[in-house]
Amino acid sequence: MDTMVLRLLGFLMLFPVGSLSADVSNNVGLGRYEDRARLKNDLFVQYDRTLEPNDEFGTIRVNHSISRAVLVSFENGVMEVSFWNGMQWFDSRLVWDPSAYGNVSKLDILRTDIWEPDFHVIESIEPYNGYPNPSIYATVQNNGHILLYPPESLKVACPYNEQDLYTNSEVLCTMKFSVWTHTCREIEPHIESEDIETVYSLDHRWKVVSTKAVRNVLRNSCCPEIFCDVTYTFHLKRVA
Ligand SMILES: *[C@@H]1O[C@H](CO)[C@@H](O)[C@H](O)[C@H]1NC(C)=O
Ligand SMILES: *[C@@H]1O[C@H](CO)[C@@H](O)[C@H](O)[C@H]1NC(C)=O
Repeated sequence: MDTMVLRLLGFLMLFPVGSLSADVSNNVGLGRYEDRARLKNDLFVQYDRTLEPNDEFGTIRVNHSISRAVLVSFENGVMEVSFWNGMQWFDSRLVWDPSAYGNVSKLDILRTDIWEPDFHVIESIEPYNGYPNPSIYATVQNNGHILLYPPESLKVACPYNEQDLYTNSEVLCTMKFSVWTHTCREIEPHIESEDIETVYSLDHRWKVVSTKAVRNVLRNSCCPEIFCDVTYTFHLKRVA
């Protein structure tokens, strides 16, 4: 394993929970294969992954978070980061009664088999690179709640002021996520936390002093549509 993987693993703080049976007595683990196969078949019989799920209010809410961010490098105005791109939403088509399926209350489904919000970093220099992403699974709970946490890695432009860098040794870099083809009334992103959970720097010259997450609502003067983005800011300080 390379150093980076080892360092990432270092983030995963696992605590002993004592006796296992005490914690899992109320569920069936993965459940029986037959039940899961029947469930998956029933759920996907008419499922079209290119269509958005239905929602009572016509707006699909997506809770977004960035976690376990690693600053790989900051060089020549380009920040390279890897992170978990966390998204949670409800898909009304993926709802079932566990008692009809041997108490199976969650299914792990390849992300490429389900609809997912087209939520992307805009203004990145190099689009997604690195991890073999299509093979990532999403967790689907029986109430239709989907959790998807693909690890991603990308480079973003981070224009900075030479003078600021010279006088304060500090730089602010932002990463902006936006829904590609939908307005904010169709797919509405929300931030799950005011900052990024767990940040680490592999670039010994730069320390991540703080991070911040904000949601912006934008309106063009031309039209009634509103657009939303979520913007994560990395506050970097030169330490070497
Ligand atoms: C998003 O977060 C809100 C507030 O914490 C919560 O009520 C809602 O159920 C979440 N939605 C999803 C899809 O996770
Ligand atoms: C499902 O849960 C119910 C209630 O806890 C239990 O009576 C039943 O035996 C369980 N079925 C399976 C297949 O585990």
